[in-house]
Amino acid sequence: MEVVVTGTGTEIGKTVVSAVLLARWAGRVGVTYWKPVATGAEEGSDSLEVASLAGPEVRVLKECYRFAPPLSPHLAARMAGVEIEPERILSACRRHRESAGGGLLVVEGIGGLLVPLTDRGYLLADLLKALDLPCLVVASSQLGTINHTLLTLEALRSRGLSLAGVVLNGPSNLENRRAIERFGRTRVVAELELLDPLSRETVARAASEFDRDGVLERHLLESRPDAGMG
Ligand SMILES: Nc1ncnc2c1ncn2[C@@H]1O[C@H](COP(=O)(O)OP(=O)(O)OP(=O)(O)O)[C@@H](O)[C@H]1O
Ligand SMILES: [Mg+2]
Repeated sequence: MEVVVTGTGTEIGKTVVSAVLLARWAGRVGVTYWKPVATGAEEGSDSLEVASLAGPEVRVLKECYRFAPPLSPHLAARMAGVEIEPERILSACRRHRESAGGGLLVVEGIGGLLVPLTDRGYLLADLLKALDLPCLVVASSQLGTINHTLLTLEALRSRGLSLAGVVLNGPSNLENRRAIERFGRTRVVAELELLDPLSRETVARAASEFDRDGVLERHLLESRPDAGMG
């Protein structure tokens, strides 16, 4: 089973949601986390954050590309004198999917969907299309989220990407949830409150409540390449 954790933008909670999702499944199946391209590594990495928050059961794979400045990948790569090669990421992903076996592989996106990976305008959305994995969209629960989330869903759908649902991050807001579900024709599969402190313990507690109705779990089980066969 594989899922991409993407979001309406940067710093929206993709890493925290990834940690909660991994903690939810840890103990039941093998759990693996992978951030293919990371920028801002000088401020600490998402991979280290996930390893610390989700616990020792999580296997954290090495990034394909890692850049120190907190910049868009196309720019961070240019400053490093490197060109991001999508094919390198795609072949690493094929290997990781195989090695994850029947477990859960969580792939974290970079920023939002239309973030450029190369100077030629190859976008994260192009990579996700080529990866062909269901996308979970992390969005804020707060004012402004309806517009950001609907834009993201429209971009996903117009590119033929598969939507696994939305996670709202922050204090619960029922009207925002309803609007996103209704106008975005999707399900909010989980709401994640602000964790204070943000720690392995609070992540584990949030994991027990995450996807309580099993909507995401069913979606991921049904999206497996071998689902429905045999
Ligand atoms: N539910 C939450 N509870 C507590 N802190 C949170 C929560 N969600 C996000 N944060 C904090 O907000 C900041 C941004 O969250 P996070 O790193 O998960 O965002 P991101 O979308 O992964 O960002 P990036 O685009 O850099 O990968 C972090 O400092 C994180 O600890
Ligand atoms: Mg992150």
